[in-house]
Amino acid sequence: MLIGGTATGQTQVLDGFNAASIDRAVSILRSGGLVAFPTETVYGLGADGLNQIAVAKIFEAKGRPSTNPLILHVPHVEAARPLASHWPDLAARLAEKFWPGPLTIILPASEMVPGIVRAGNPSVALRSPNHPVALELLNAFGGPLAAPSANKTTETSPTKPEHVLRSMGGRVNLILDGGRTPSGIESTIIDLTASPPILLRPGPIPPSELEAILGDMARFEGAVSANSIQAAPGMSRRHYAPMASLTLHEPSDLVKKLIAFQQASDEKIAVVVLGDCVELPPGCNHKRLPDDPNQVSSRLYAVLHDLDSQGYQRILFQRPPSTDDWLAVRDRLDRASDVEADDAL
Ligand code: TXA
Ligand code: MG
Repeated sequence: MLIGGTATGQTQVLDGFNAASIDRAVSILRSGGLVAFPTETVYGLGADGLNQIAVAKIFEAKGRPSTNPLILHVPHVEAARPLASHWPDLAARLAEKFWPGPLTIILPASEMVPGIVRAGNPSVALRSPNHPVALELLNAFGGPLAAPSANKTTETSPTKPEHVLRSMGGRVNLILDGGRTPSGIESTIIDLTASPPILLRPGPIPPSELEAILGDMARFEGAVSANSIQAAPGMSRRHYAPMASLTLHEPSDLVKKLIAFQQASDEKIAVVVLGDCVELPPGCNHKRLPDDPNQVSSRLYAVLHDLDSQGYQRILFQRPPSTDDWLAVRDRLDRASDVEADDAL
């Protein structure tokens, strides 16, 4: 049954801000189906987090290795607590300050959490997303939702419903349309099972704000190969990659590299620059993003999706500064980039 909205294959797209759409989503989730929903970071591909058969459908739909665990999403701290075997003071303080919000906390799992969600690990990832549609859905569903980003494994995460439809159309029962996601990159992940806690994935929350609560915090410096055993299994290189080959270049090198690439092949090339310190040759296909890390994170994936859909084969991206405020953007660009091509020129 379709309550208004559009359908592609077996995928419905409904207005997420509508109560009837939430009802429809809840009934799909209760019967073990998949619902994509907006969060403040990226769209999630949700299933009943306590139903192993439903969770297995997430892995299948994404083509995700079963060794890569999922985040359980909850509406508030009280819903998170039973999912952890204990709730340390640091978890309470982080949740108090950052939930609902773009922070995922790794804690020892309770017996409630199915092994498939944890990929067999003793820990579980918990997050309370700060988005009205996600919170409405979580409250109405009344249980945790397992949800990775709603894209096929190794593709760029979706920040708009049309990105979800392009990647997952026919593989998800319903997409709740909440428009563009505001933060635009995935949540910050902090592992509290380690001492000191480890920042596993930089994200919208600046490291300094975490350090203010945690004191000592280690950083996971990990572009690790896809098959190795690792702290956050999804943190492999080229995990966030666009279809085009992406290379990173210092502002002073960018134009030189562009000319070299243009002379070496007939590829359709786009350049992405930050602010106005790089002067580009006339006629060069380019996007100019603001020289501001928050604005770049919020638009980064949408720019990559757009360039892919416009058929660009190569993206030359200006390397962001190496300061902490650019950490999350740098991390995603490093993972999206094609090191070999950069070395080749
Ligand atoms: O912003 C986000 O976090 C989005 C939205 C939908 O909430 N979700 C997301 O999920 O990015 P996903 O599955 O694409 O990335 C979650 C990351 C993966 O790298 C996974 O390996 C890691 O979290 N992870 C999940 N459970 C873990 C655990 N128990 N221990 C270590 N890493 C874990
Ligand atoms: Mg993902």
